[in-house]
Amino acid sequence: MSQPVITIDRHIIEQERRNPGATGAFSNILYDLAFAAKMISREVNMAGLVDILGGTDERNIHGEEVQKLDAWANEVIFKALDHGGHLACMASEEAEDFIPIPDRFPTGKYVLLYDPLDGSSNIEANVSIGTIFSIHRKITSGERGQLQDCLQPGHSQVAAGYVVYGSSTMLVYTTGHGVFGFTLDPSIGEFLLSHSSVRTPSPGRRIYSVNDGNYTNWSAGQRAFSDYLRGLDPANPKPFASRYTGSLVADFHRNLLYGGIFMYPADTTNPRGKLRLLYEAAPLAFIAEQAGGRGSDGYRRILDIEPQQLHERTPVYLGSSEWVELAERYLVGNRGQSEGV
Ligand code: AHG
Ligand code: MN
Ligand code: MN
Repeated sequence: MSQPVITIDRHIIEQERRNPGATGAFSNILYDLAFAAKMISREVNMAGLVDILGGTDERNIHGEEVQKLDAWANEVIFKALDHGGHLACMASEEAEDFIPIPDRFPTGKYVLLYDPLDGSSNIEANVSIGTIFSIHRKITSGERGQLQDCLQPGHSQVAAGYVVYGSSTMLVYTTGHGVFGFTLDPSIGEFLLSHSSVRTPSPGRRIYSVNDGNYTNWSAGQRAFSDYLRGLDPANPKPFASRYTGSLVADFHRNLLYGGIFMYPADTTNPRGKLRLLYEAAPLAFIAEQAGGRGSDGYRRILDIEPQQLHERTPVYLGSSEWVELAERYLVGNRGQSEGV
């Protein structure tokens, strides 16, 4: 007999059965997210064929150009999840304030935070892009969620995941019991289990992923670590391979499977880094840890950061424990010498 094909729905049900108190609410959120991912995947695959490319005239609250597909994906996710009665509120990288559930729909006990399209500068070049999500329990007492429900540290996430729209579309998620990856079979429209219990190799492949163009704006510690990776430090004469697409999800996903380190350090123009704690850093740090890796801001565990603002940024170091710990040692060891960071 061949192995049974495990759809994402079956997997979610089986995971839920392991939790006797489960009401099914949480599973429904994951179904809805998988549905939204299929919608976005279809659109991303068609993006070169239909008139959906190009920027709107708008800029998002981070001052970046909003591509049409960003705005569209933002809405797809919201509408796939606004009516199910399982969420108290949402927050999106593309929306300035947290997003209440419309009054006409019932609410529930979970909170969803998401980056609808990650790597959007790559859309027109047909480079992999992604979606990132993070789920928390509501902590305030009212029926409808509040800002406070969104401002929770990463260690209290109940689930996190991402979708990578690449040579195939994959959904990867964790609920704190390991990391599972599903590949979309477009012929039947189902996500099928393809990666069971993902473990990130440590040390794994010698890959580093960072925007090296920022080198002169980095702290002394970050430059020293970069020199180590590039074989310029006597401690490491053998350079690592550099791989950086500019899509966090794609770079993270590759390094999750192969081993390596992804970095978006602080620099003089982005003293708190570029990536957002709630929509990017925390969910990917949860997945990295669940796969045996590490997520750090260079000095502390990303999952321990207490968010103060919805759109706050953080420096990011993600990947194989061994390389992330090494980065921390370089940063701490050169701490007094930072310029402007
Ligand atoms: P988003 O498209 O959601 O705004 O995220 C873009 C992020 C991330 O995907 C990527 O790692 C990083 O920006 C790239 O930044 P640089 O162009 O500064 O390297
Ligand atoms: Mn992003
Ligand atoms: Mn985005």
